[in-house]
Amino acid sequence: MIKFDNVTATYKKNIGIFNISFEVEPGELVFIMGPTGAGKSTILKTIYKDLQVDSGKIFLNNEDISLSSSNLSISSTRNEIGMIFQDFKLLNDRNVYDNVALPLRIAGISSKNIKHMVRDALNKVNMSGYEFSYPLELSGGEQQRISIARALVNNPKIILADEPTGNLDPNISDEILDLLENFTANGSTVLMSTHNFPLIKPRNKKFIELSKGRMV
Ligand SMILES: Nc1ncnc2c1ncn2[C@@H]1O[C@H](COP(=O)(O)OP(=O)(O)OP(=O)(O)O)[C@@H](O)[C@H]1O
Ligand SMILES: [Mg+2]
Repeated sequence: MIKFDNVTATYKKNIGIFNISFEVEPGELVFIMGPTGAGKSTILKTIYKDLQVDSGKIFLNNEDISLSSSNLSISSTRNEIGMIFQDFKLLNDRNVYDNVALPLRIAGISSKNIKHMVRDALNKVNMSGYEFSYPLELSGGEQQRISIARALVNNPKIILADEPTGNLDPNISDEILDLLENFTANGSTVLMSTHNFPLIKPRNKKFIELSKGRMV
Protein backbone atom coordinates (compact mmCIF):
# COMPACT_ATOMS: atom_id res chain seq x y z
CA MET A 1 0.00 0.00 0.00
CA ILE A 2 1.19 3.51 -0.84
CA LYS A 3 -0.51 6.61 0.55
CA PHE A 4 0.34 10.26 -0.08
CA ASP A 5 -1.22 12.74 2.30
CA ASN A 6 -0.83 16.32 1.03
CA VAL A 7 2.83 15.85 0.05
CA THR A 8 4.98 18.74 -1.11
CA ALA A 9 8.60 18.07 -2.11
CA THR A 10 10.77 20.63 -3.87
CA TYR A 11 14.21 20.84 -5.47
CA LYS A 12 14.05 24.60 -5.20
CA LYS A 13 11.33 27.22 -4.85
CA ASN A 14 8.31 26.41 -7.08
CA ILE A 15 10.02 23.34 -8.65
CA GLY A 16 8.85 19.92 -7.50
CA ILE A 17 5.49 18.39 -6.50
CA PHE A 18 2.83 20.21 -4.50
CA ASN A 19 -0.06 19.03 -2.28
CA ILE A 20 -0.18 15.51 -3.72
CA SER A 21 -2.69 13.08 -2.15
CA PHE A 22 -3.59 9.62 -3.43
CA GLU A 23 -3.68 6.00 -2.33
CA VAL A 24 -2.66 2.76 -4.03
CA GLU A 25 -4.20 -0.29 -2.33
CA PRO A 26 -2.48 -3.68 -2.06
CA GLY A 27 -3.07 -5.53 -5.31
CA GLU A 28 -3.66 -2.34 -7.26
CA LEU A 29 -1.87 -0.96 -10.35
CA VAL A 30 -2.07 2.83 -10.56
CA PHE A 31 -0.57 5.11 -13.22
CA ILE A 32 0.97 8.56 -12.87
CA MET A 33 0.22 10.45 -16.08
CA GLY A 34 1.51 13.75 -17.33
CA PRO A 35 3.76 15.50 -19.84
CA THR A 36 7.52 15.87 -19.50
CA GLY A 37 8.49 17.86 -16.42
CA ALA A 38 5.10 17.31 -14.73
CA GLY A 39 6.67 15.66 -11.67
CA LYS A 40 6.11 11.95 -12.33
CA SER A 41 9.67 10.84 -11.52
CA THR A 42 9.68 13.22 -8.56
CA ILE A 43 6.73 11.39 -6.97
CA LEU A 44 8.59 8.08 -7.35
CA LYS A 45 11.80 9.64 -6.00
CA THR A 46 10.07 10.70 -2.78
CA ILE A 47 8.90 7.11 -2.24
CA TYR A 48 12.38 5.77 -2.96
CA LYS A 49 13.79 8.42 -0.61
CA ASP A 50 15.89 10.05 -3.28
CA LEU A 51 14.17 13.30 -2.37
CA GLN A 52 13.08 14.43 1.08
CA VAL A 53 9.51 15.72 1.49
CA ASP A 54 9.03 19.32 2.67
CA SER A 55 5.58 18.68 4.17
CA GLY A 56 2.86 16.06 4.22
CA LYS A 57 3.19 12.33 4.83
CA ILE A 58 3.98 9.24 2.78
CA PHE A 59 2.88 5.84 4.08
CA LEU A 60 4.23 2.54 2.78
CA ASN A 61 2.28 -0.41 4.16
CA ASN A 62 0.95 1.84 6.96
CA GLU A 63 4.41 2.99 7.98
CA ASP A 64 5.17 6.70 7.77
CA ILE A 65 8.39 6.86 5.72
CA SER A 66 8.42 10.64 5.45
CA LEU A 67 9.38 11.11 9.10
CA SER A 68 12.95 9.99 9.64
CA SER A 69 15.84 10.45 7.28
CA SER A 70 18.33 8.06 8.86
CA ASN A 71 20.35 5.82 6.56
CA LEU A 72 18.98 2.73 8.22
CA SER A 73 15.46 3.69 7.37
CA ILE A 74 16.42 4.53 3.78
CA SER A 75 17.82 1.04 3.23
CA SER A 76 14.94 -0.70 4.99
CA THR A 77 12.49 1.33 2.91
CA ARG A 78 14.33 0.43 -0.30
CA ASN A 79 14.31 -3.24 0.64
CA GLU A 80 10.53 -3.20 0.35
CA ILE A 81 10.61 -1.63 -3.11
CA GLY A 82 11.48 -2.91 -6.59
CA MET A 83 12.42 -0.16 -9.07
CA ILE A 84 12.12 -0.30 -12.86
CA PHE A 85 13.46 2.41 -15.18
CA GLN A 86 13.00 3.52 -18.78
CA ASP A 87 16.67 2.81 -19.60
CA PHE A 88 16.68 -0.58 -17.75
CA LYS A 89 19.88 0.23 -15.79
CA LEU A 90 21.33 -3.24 -16.31
CA LEU A 91 25.07 -3.87 -15.86
CA ASN A 92 26.24 -4.58 -19.41
CA ASP A 93 29.41 -6.38 -18.33
CA ARG A 94 27.47 -8.91 -16.21
CA ASN A 95 25.27 -11.67 -17.57
CA VAL A 96 21.53 -11.92 -16.96
CA TYR A 97 21.96 -14.23 -13.96
CA ASP A 98 24.33 -11.84 -12.21
CA ASN A 99 22.13 -8.84 -12.98
CA VAL A 100 19.07 -10.45 -11.45
CA ALA A 101 21.07 -11.87 -8.52
CA LEU A 102 22.56 -8.47 -7.63
CA PRO A 103 19.97 -7.29 -5.05
CA LEU A 104 20.09 -10.73 -3.38
CA ARG A 105 23.89 -10.68 -3.11
CA ILE A 106 23.71 -7.19 -1.61
CA ALA A 107 21.18 -8.53 0.91
CA GLY A 108 23.60 -11.35 1.84
CA ILE A 109 21.39 -14.24 0.72
CA SER A 110 23.08 -17.65 0.27
CA SER A 111 24.08 -18.71 -3.25
CA LYS A 112 21.80 -21.72 -3.02
CA ASN A 113 18.74 -19.55 -2.30
CA ILE A 114 19.86 -17.03 -4.91
CA LYS A 115 19.77 -19.78 -7.52
CA HIS A 116 16.13 -20.61 -6.73
CA MET A 117 15.03 -17.00 -6.49
CA VAL A 118 16.69 -15.99 -9.78
CA ARG A 119 15.12 -18.98 -11.51
CA ASP A 120 11.66 -18.02 -10.19
CA ALA A 121 12.07 -14.39 -11.20
CA LEU A 122 13.20 -15.27 -14.75
CA ASN A 123 10.25 -17.65 -15.02
CA LYS A 124 7.81 -14.92 -14.08
CA VAL A 125 9.04 -12.67 -16.90
CA ASN A 126 9.29 -15.53 -19.43
CA MET A 127 13.07 -15.26 -19.73
CA SER A 128 14.17 -18.69 -18.49
CA GLY A 129 17.17 -19.92 -20.43
CA TYR A 130 18.75 -16.49 -20.84
CA GLU A 131 20.91 -16.73 -17.68
CA PHE A 132 24.22 -16.62 -19.57
CA SER A 133 23.27 -13.94 -22.10
CA TYR A 134 24.59 -10.41 -21.73
CA PRO A 135 22.18 -7.45 -21.75
CA LEU A 136 23.44 -6.04 -25.06
CA GLU A 137 22.68 -9.37 -26.76
CA LEU A 138 18.99 -8.88 -25.93
CA SER A 139 16.25 -6.72 -27.48
CA GLY A 140 14.94 -3.72 -25.58
CA GLY A 141 11.81 -5.60 -24.51
CA GLU A 142 13.92 -8.54 -23.31
CA GLN A 143 16.23 -6.21 -21.37
CA GLN A 144 13.21 -4.64 -19.70
CA ARG A 145 11.97 -8.12 -18.73
CA ILE A 146 15.34 -8.77 -17.09
CA SER A 147 15.15 -5.48 -15.22
CA ILE A 148 11.65 -6.44 -14.03
CA ALA A 149 13.01 -9.82 -12.86
CA ARG A 150 15.68 -7.94 -10.90
CA ALA A 151 13.02 -5.66 -9.37
CA LEU A 152 10.81 -8.53 -8.22
CA VAL A 153 13.48 -11.12 -7.32
CA ASN A 154 13.32 -10.38 -3.57
CA ASN A 155 9.51 -10.33 -3.57
CA PRO A 156 8.99 -6.66 -2.74
CA LYS A 157 5.50 -5.55 -1.72
CA ILE A 158 5.85 -2.46 -3.87
CA ILE A 159 7.02 -1.96 -7.46
CA LEU A 160 7.79 1.52 -8.77
CA ALA A 161 8.15 1.76 -12.55
CA ASP A 162 9.39 5.04 -14.00
CA GLU A 163 8.33 5.22 -17.66
CA PRO A 164 9.20 1.52 -18.12
CA THR A 165 7.84 1.41 -21.67
CA GLY A 166 9.39 4.69 -22.81
CA ASN A 167 11.94 2.97 -25.06
CA LEU A 168 9.71 0.16 -26.32
CA ASP A 169 7.32 -0.20 -29.24
CA PRO A 170 3.55 -0.46 -28.55
CA ASN A 171 3.22 -4.28 -28.67
CA ILE A 172 6.14 -4.85 -26.36
CA SER A 173 4.90 -2.06 -24.08
CA ASP A 174 1.61 -3.90 -23.72
CA GLU A 175 3.43 -7.11 -22.75
CA ILE A 176 5.39 -5.21 -20.11
CA LEU A 177 2.11 -3.83 -18.74
CA ASP A 178 0.72 -7.39 -18.62
CA LEU A 179 3.71 -8.45 -16.52
CA LEU A 180 3.23 -5.55 -14.11
CA GLU A 181 -0.47 -6.29 -13.87
CA ASN A 182 0.22 -10.00 -13.16
CA PHE A 183 2.40 -8.88 -10.34
CA THR A 184 -0.54 -7.24 -8.55
CA ALA A 185 -2.42 -10.56 -8.50
CA ASN A 186 -0.50 -11.69 -5.39
CA GLY A 187 -1.35 -8.53 -3.46
CA SER A 188 1.60 -6.37 -4.47
CA THR A 189 1.24 -2.69 -5.26
CA VAL A 190 2.46 -1.18 -8.54
CA LEU A 191 2.84 2.52 -9.28
CA MET A 192 3.92 3.32 -12.84
CA SER A 193 4.64 6.65 -14.50
CA THR A 194 3.99 7.26 -18.18
CA HIS A 195 3.23 10.07 -20.60
CA ASN A 196 1.52 7.58 -22.95
CA PHE A 197 -2.21 7.82 -22.31
CA PRO A 198 -3.26 5.66 -25.32
CA LEU A 199 -1.18 2.81 -23.84
CA ILE A 200 -2.93 2.78 -20.46
CA LYS A 201 -6.42 3.88 -21.48
CA PRO A 202 -7.69 0.39 -22.49
CA ARG A 203 -6.74 -0.96 -19.05
CA ASN A 204 -9.33 1.14 -17.21
CA LYS A 205 -7.10 1.62 -14.19
CA LYS A 206 -6.96 4.48 -11.74
CA PHE A 207 -4.52 7.19 -12.77
CA ILE A 208 -3.18 10.35 -11.23
CA GLU A 209 -2.83 13.21 -13.68
CA LEU A 210 -0.10 15.77 -13.05
CA SER A 211 0.61 19.15 -14.54
CA LYS A 212 3.45 21.37 -13.34
CA GLY A 213 3.83 19.34 -10.14
CA ARG A 214 0.16 19.48 -9.19
CA MET A 215 -2.73 17.03 -9.48
CA VAL A 216 -5.34 17.96 -12.06
N1 LIG B 1 17.54 16.99 -9.55
C1 LIG B 1 16.78 18.04 -9.88
N2 LIG B 1 17.12 19.31 -9.51
C2 LIG B 1 16.33 20.37 -9.82
N3 LIG B 1 15.17 20.28 -10.51
C3 LIG B 1 14.79 19.05 -10.91
C4 LIG B 1 15.57 17.88 -10.62
N4 LIG B 1 14.94 16.79 -11.15
C5 LIG B 1 13.81 17.27 -11.73
N5 LIG B 1 13.71 18.62 -11.59
C6 LIG B 1 12.62 19.47 -12.07
O1 LIG B 1 11.41 19.05 -11.42
C7 LIG B 1 10.31 19.07 -12.31
C8 LIG B 1 9.66 17.70 -12.39
O2 LIG B 1 10.60 16.80 -12.95
P1 LIG B 1 10.32 15.23 -13.12
O3 LIG B 1 11.62 14.60 -13.48
O4 LIG B 1 9.61 14.73 -11.93
O5 LIG B 1 9.31 15.23 -14.37
P2 LIG B 1 8.69 13.99 -15.17
O6 LIG B 1 7.20 14.16 -15.14
O7 LIG B 1 9.25 12.72 -14.65
O8 LIG B 1 9.20 14.27 -16.66
P3 LIG B 1 9.69 13.24 -17.82
O9 LIG B 1 8.44 12.75 -18.49
O10 LIG B 1 10.50 14.11 -18.74
O11 LIG B 1 10.48 12.15 -17.18
C9 LIG B 1 10.87 19.58 -13.64
O12 LIG B 1 10.60 20.97 -13.71
C10 LIG B 1 12.34 19.30 -13.54
O13 LIG B 1 13.09 20.22 -14.30
MG1 LIG C 1 10.50 11.27 -15.46
